[in-house]
Amino acid sequence: MPSFLPILAALVTFAVSLTAVSPIPAVIDIVVPPAFDLHTVSPSFVSLSIEQDRWTDWSGTTSRNEFFYNVMENLKDLTGSSPGIRIGANSEDRTDFNRAVQYAEDVFPAPNPTTPYPEATHITVGDGYYTTAKYLLPDTEVIWGVNFGKKNLTAAVLEATSIMRAFSGPDISNLGISLKYLEIGNEPDLYMNNGLRSGDYNVGQYVTEYLEFVPSPLKRIPHSLQCLRWSDFANVIFQEIELNTTSTRFLAGAFAGSSSNLNGFSPQAIYNLGITESPAGEYIAAFSEHHYQGSFCSGSEGVLSDLMNKANIRGNLSQYASDIQATHAQGLEYIFGETNSYSCHGAPGVSNTAGAAIWALDYMLYAATLDIQHVYFHDGIGFKYNLIQPVTLTRSILDGSTLPSPLSPHVQPQYYAGIVAAEAIGKSGNTQISELDIDDPQISGFVFYEDYEEKRMILINHTPYFYEDESAGTQRPVTDVRINFPKHCGGTQNIVVKMLEIQHSDDTSGVTWGGQSYDTSDGLVKGSPFTGTVALNESLGVPASQAALVVFECS
Ligand SMILES: *[C@@H]1O[C@H](CO)[C@@H](O)[C@H](O)[C@H]1NC(C)=O
Ligand SMILES: *[C@@H]1O[C@H](CO)[C@@H](O)[C@H](O)[C@H]1NC(C)=O
Ligand SMILES: *[C@@H]1O[C@H](CO)[C@@H](O)[C@H](O)[C@H]1NC(C)=O
Ligand SMILES: *[C@@H]1O[C@H](CO)[C@@H](O)[C@H](O)[C@H]1NC(C)=O
Repeated sequence: MPSFLPILAALVTFAVSLTAVSPIPAVIDIVVPPAFDLHTVSPSFVSLSIEQDRWTDWSGTTSRNEFFYNVMENLKDLTGSSPGIRIGANSEDRTDFNRAVQYAEDVFPAPNPTTPYPEATHITVGDGYYTTAKYLLPDTEVIWGVNFGKKNLTAAVLEATSIMRAFSGPDISNLGISLKYLEIGNEPDLYMNNGLRSGDYNVGQYVTEYLEFVPSPLKRIPHSLQCLRWSDFANVIFQEIELNTTSTRFLAGAFAGSSSNLNGFSPQAIYNLGITESPAGEYIAAFSEHHYQGSFCSGSEGVLSDLMNKANIRGNLSQYASDIQATHAQGLEYIFGETNSYSCHGAPGVSNTAGAAIWALDYMLYAATLDIQHVYFHDGIGFKYNLIQPVTLTRSILDGSTLPSPLSPHVQPQYYAGIVAAEAIGKSGNTQISELDIDDPQISGFVFYEDYEEKRMILINHTPYFYEDESAGTQRPVTDVRINFPKHCGGTQNIVVKMLEIQHSDDTSGVTWGGQSYDTSDGLVKGSPFTGTVALNESLGVPASQAALVVFECS
């Protein structure tokens, strides 16, 4: 239907001045197109993945962690929906269950400068560990991982039944908190490298093992765990908890990478091997991919300007297009169940900076346009790439050195990306997103529609501007954007603009959103909101390393 397509989504014109002594910046004319290429974006799209070993630091044990609760509630206030929580990751496959343990007992290796807050090498949990999910926001949908790495069925069954019991108990279910998916192991595509399987472990073996969790309701279950086989896993937990009466489903994948073809580990390969056609298939409702844009595992430097780069973000995410399509063709949800900037807890001076907030904002919104249905940003206590540090820290997250004074719970710059996205998604419950086709390597833009009407727009300037640039006297680049009003506004109203203010890309604090700060002792927003307006045909300046939310207000 050609008349439905935009003729020109955006066009760039260059102001010309013969007497210019400094470069005249480009002016970008944005014609907000009528609804096109829309992608539904869930109100709980921006979600959190938590490293399993120190989960109770996030939740609280005998009382809830108020700071964590507040910063989650800030997001819910903007979208009307509690962000999703996934608990798992590497320490998921190092977890044992012992009913005698009250919450969790961890064995941690010594910290070092590359890994100031190492993950537990061993964790033993008891029932109380899972019941702390009662401290989450009401209506939170949870993904919890069970140990598939150790291939110890007894441990996996004990964990899963404890999880199912916790979520079916009144403390959790009365709050509407639910177990959405059980994750069966973390990154099984790496098991051949990390000693959890033999070196020749392949996707065929993965599918066979996964299907041994098959729930076949007609089968009789042996009552002694001693006699259990893998194929009894689901039967046992179904019987114990009557999983068939809940909405809980299984997650497939949780792969660290994807071959995107039938060889190697990929969603295409597991579907081809029949994972969804098996009796278990009925209980698989989503495929989870993990993605980091870079790696800090060997301690090498990350480069902030590479992370923030518009083309790099598109390259990193668009490689999953065929995986997403294959997954949706199976009727499954496709999620990024674990993601962030640099794997192995982030790169110092990169993942913890304001520039990473620019990265995260564009990354999550671009992911939404690819029909990735939820993105779970991975966080652990003291990890560099966190959105949130929910407990007091005594060691530097950058090099492990002892801090001169303890650092109270606080948000990190990337948290603001979540806030900005949440505000743009809004509370409609049926928001759709579309990327503007802006032919500029530094500027990206996304329009948010409700009922096919343009409501809001986000503009992001990817240009880095470092503290060093300012010290050297380099003027901060600003890109001017002229926004043509959407038709339904009639052309008489102003547009309201709210800025994500960042002084320098490498700042690690001081970020504000429309003049307000979340860098407060209780995590609640502080300060008076500040918005500006732009009149018709007036241009809006978007400074390097900042982002703007444009709200089309129709009277
Ligand atoms: C399997 O897990 C159970 C329960 O945690 C534990 O008692 C047992 O020792 C484990 N078996 C092996 C071989 O590790
Ligand atoms: C759940 O499964 C059990 C055992 O197979 C069965 O007795 C029960 O009726 C099922 N409940 C529902 C609601 O299907
Ligand atoms: C992902 O981004 C990094 C920079 O952060 C870049 O080096 C890499 O080439 C990108 N990958 C793809 C597939 O585009
Ligand atoms: C805005 O710009 C358009 C196109 O250049 C022009 O037709 C229109 O008259 C201008 N409106 C105002 C209020 O300046």
